[in-house]
Amino acid sequence: MSTVTLTIEGKSYELPTVEGTEKEKAIDIAKLRDLTGYVTLDTGYKNTGATKSTITFLDGENGILHYRGYPIEQLADKSNFVEVAYLLIYGALPTQAEYNRFVGMLAEETKLHDDVKKILDGFPKTAHPMGVLTAVISALTAFDPDSLNPHRPWAEVERTIVRLIAQMPVLIAWIYKKSIGEAYPNPKWDKGYVEDYSSYMFGSASGGYTINPVIIGALHKLLILHADHEQNCSTSTVRIVGSSDASLYSSIAAGVCALWGPLHGGANQEVLEMLEEIRKDGGDTKKYLDKARDKNDPFRLMGFGHRVYKNFDPRARIIKVACDEVLTELGVKDPILEIAKQLEQAALSDEYFVQRKLYPNVDFYSGIIYRALGIPVEFFTVMFAFGRLPGWISQWKELKDNKEPIGRPRQIYTGATNRDYVEISKR
Ligand code: CMC
Repeated sequence: MSTVTLTIEGKSYELPTVEGTEKEKAIDIAKLRDLTGYVTLDTGYKNTGATKSTITFLDGENGILHYRGYPIEQLADKSNFVEVAYLLIYGALPTQAEYNRFVGMLAEETKLHDDVKKILDGFPKTAHPMGVLTAVISALTAFDPDSLNPHRPWAEVERTIVRLIAQMPVLIAWIYKKSIGEAYPNPKWDKGYVEDYSSYMFGSASGGYTINPVIIGALHKLLILHADHEQNCSTSTVRIVGSSDASLYSSIAAGVCALWGPLHGGANQEVLEMLEEIRKDGGDTKKYLDKARDKNDPFRLMGFGHRVYKNFDPRARIIKVACDEVLTELGVKDPILEIAKQLEQAALSDEYFVQRKLYPNVDFYSGIIYRALGIPVEFFTVMFAFGRLPGWISQWKELKDNKEPIGRPRQIYTGATNRDYVEISKR
């Protein structure tokens, strides 16, 4: 085992190092405070590895993303979302028998409890769907009370995991139908996970919805590309909430909250709104690049930049190609696609963006596809959550399997030192 030497106030300490299977290196500081009295300080966790994980590998410098060792490009091209969910949660691609069993369990668990409709009825029609989604996912604990104990035998935990995955598309469709004042579709496994989601969303209560293979293919691809992304903000939230032994439902609900923010998953809604604004403003992309560069202007080019990717986001590359294909196949001409491409072109040769290694991320083109598929803009981040669900679940499961301790960072206190209380009349 190799070590590093840390010298503090003239005294040297040997700290062990850790190397991952893809040669990432870390200094193990688990004993740092005991040995030296020091802690590390790293706001935003830019240099902190919070866990060892076997789920997702991401090399931001080279634009590499693997789930359980499989390149994202191959999974997006050849797999389907249910198989990828299985891969993330169980750790290996399923055999045909394992796949059939998983699908069978999903089919059995599709029926979202009827009382959820009463909860949904309590929200105003105009409620943002991310707020409703997080509230209802947390409330699902009420319909699966044994899930409050995360240390149950695996068969029971597995049932809860499958139930949540099976009911997510129904829940999203019910939230959508409520927002447009239409009847809640009947949850029933029929043509497949994504196909059924599509018919819940776009069909009417009387049925008669025809599955469009272009839409189904695009949905599978988008969901796969969003399925996991190692220790990002929402996943770290899921893990930290799960580390307190909170239930799977509440851990996932917390992840949905974290994802909602515009610097994370909420960016896909913001991108579309930004592109629309540029279009309405005459399509002057240069004006918006100038705004993004201006440090006195809070405007940021949404869908650009990433904490980890510093050359390109492999998901964005796949989505950009898919975007062209889907719009062509559906015969949709969307003027904001042109604006997005112009903006990308201009930013890629702009010194400000080049110097800071700012490239389009997963959210830059995804909204244009969602819009072409008929998904309303407020539901874009919901779609992100839909895709990320198996990733969050696999990370929660890994945390439990590894018996990781409760997450509890330290701090460096910089406030007032000890002082005496003064009565209000004397201040
Ligand atoms: N537009 C303009 N300037 C930017 C942008 C942007 N989108 N992103 C970063 N910068 C600048 C930033 O002002 C800073 O400049 P300087 O060094 O002069 O102060 C520099 O680039 C580094 O930025 P940072 O905010 O320190 O980087 P970060 O790693 O903390 O933030 C980010 C990463 C994704 C939050 C950020 O790039 C951003 O706000 N992007 C727009 C929102 C967005 O698209 N989010 C979706 C991320 S991908 C989906 C997901 O997985 O969450």
